[in-house]
Amino acid sequence: MGKKISRREFVKKTILAGSTIAAGGMFNAVPLFASTAPVRVGCILPYSKVYAVLGESITNGMMLYFDEVGGKAGGRKLEIIKEDDEVNPQVGIRKTKKLVENDKVDFLSGPVASNVLMAMRNYVHDSKTILLVSNAGADAVTREHKSPYIFRTSFSNWMINAPMGEWIYKKISKEVFVTAADYVAGHQMIDSFKEGFIPAGGKIVGEVYPPLGTNDFGPYLTQIAKQKPKAIYCFYAGSDAARFVKQFDEFGLKKTTKLTGAGFMLEEDVLPAEGKAAVGAISGLHWLLGLNNPQNKKFVKEYTKKFKTNPNVYAVQGYDTGRVIVEALNKTGGNTGNKQKLIEVIKNIKFASPRGPFEFDKITHNVIQNIYIREVKLIGGKPTNVEIDVAKGVRDPGVTKKS
Ligand code: PHB
Repeated sequence: MGKKISRREFVKKTILAGSTIAAGGMFNAVPLFASTAPVRVGCILPYSKVYAVLGESITNGMMLYFDEVGGKAGGRKLEIIKEDDEVNPQVGIRKTKKLVENDKVDFLSGPVASNVLMAMRNYVHDSKTILLVSNAGADAVTREHKSPYIFRTSFSNWMINAPMGEWIYKKISKEVFVTAADYVAGHQMIDSFKEGFIPAGGKIVGEVYPPLGTNDFGPYLTQIAKQKPKAIYCFYAGSDAARFVKQFDEFGLKKTTKLTGAGFMLEEDVLPAEGKAAVGAISGLHWLLGLNNPQNKKFVKEYTKKFKTNPNVYAVQGYDTGRVIVEALNKTGGNTGNKQKLIEVIKNIKFASPRGPFEFDKITHNVIQNIYIREVKLIGGKPTNVEIDVAKGVRDPGVTKKS
């Protein structure tokens, strides 16, 4: 039998809980009873521009997980509120404030782009809002700008690329040309690749950084073609990726230069459009469609059934973020008011994800996970990522290496 509490004690505790809710969390009093109102998850994601499909895939993945648990956790209904950040830091911060102050969300999830995440970081930290980063890889959020309120279910830019540096040096080429979208994520992805590649003995023979959201890569491809490098290492995602890979082939570069990079460039959201242009390309990422584990088989089957398209890595990130929210609510009886307790609970969440083992680094709050090295092969006439190697249990170092 549970401990009985007196009526006086009950009234005291209820008033305390009520005042915290009414004050919108302005006082430090911790609500002792969970609200029965729906839990609100604010998705601050791009639903337009270069990363629109990424935002939609993350949301779909989260919705799928919420559906699997009957749309409830910790005794409360689950509600998603979507806001389009338009891949724009100013819009991102404005909509984040709207979600926190007007909609009073219990959790925030997103964004996709590192520059939007950097713009949101201080506000999220100061307002003590729990943010589950479901894509943006900005390394600083796991390092000098980490926050107790921020967890990342996706990746740090470092962890996708650093393991690839040494691998490409050993298996593909000692000389590489590098190229990426010209913003914080693009530069961090390439810098982390260099961190592995150069100490191994590799030489960077050229670099070029077109703006994010480029339609015509012609001038940049001309520059690459002049060098005819043996290999190229890239970061492009969303519509940038589809255009870059197709135009790379149209320029005849596939004949001279091995295409390699961060796996976003060859993910399921763009691979069908890239078609044969992607065949032979090598990339690193924390998931691939054909990953052979029971969780992935179930996820791919359910996602395809619900959304009539293959999932992609972003959908996995949304699905796992949904799971973290659900487990946190179940373990706290739906009490989202006690942030310290929520943080403790989230820190210890660990499970078998479609991507393989998933756990948080207790110091940085960044996910620890496998990075799969994949090669695009033509299987049954379809370009398909095939696992050719794996770096197991990759963890961001949590500090920036001084060069
Ligand atoms: C980022 O800006 O951090 C970012 C965007 C798209 C990706 C990966 C990383 O696919």
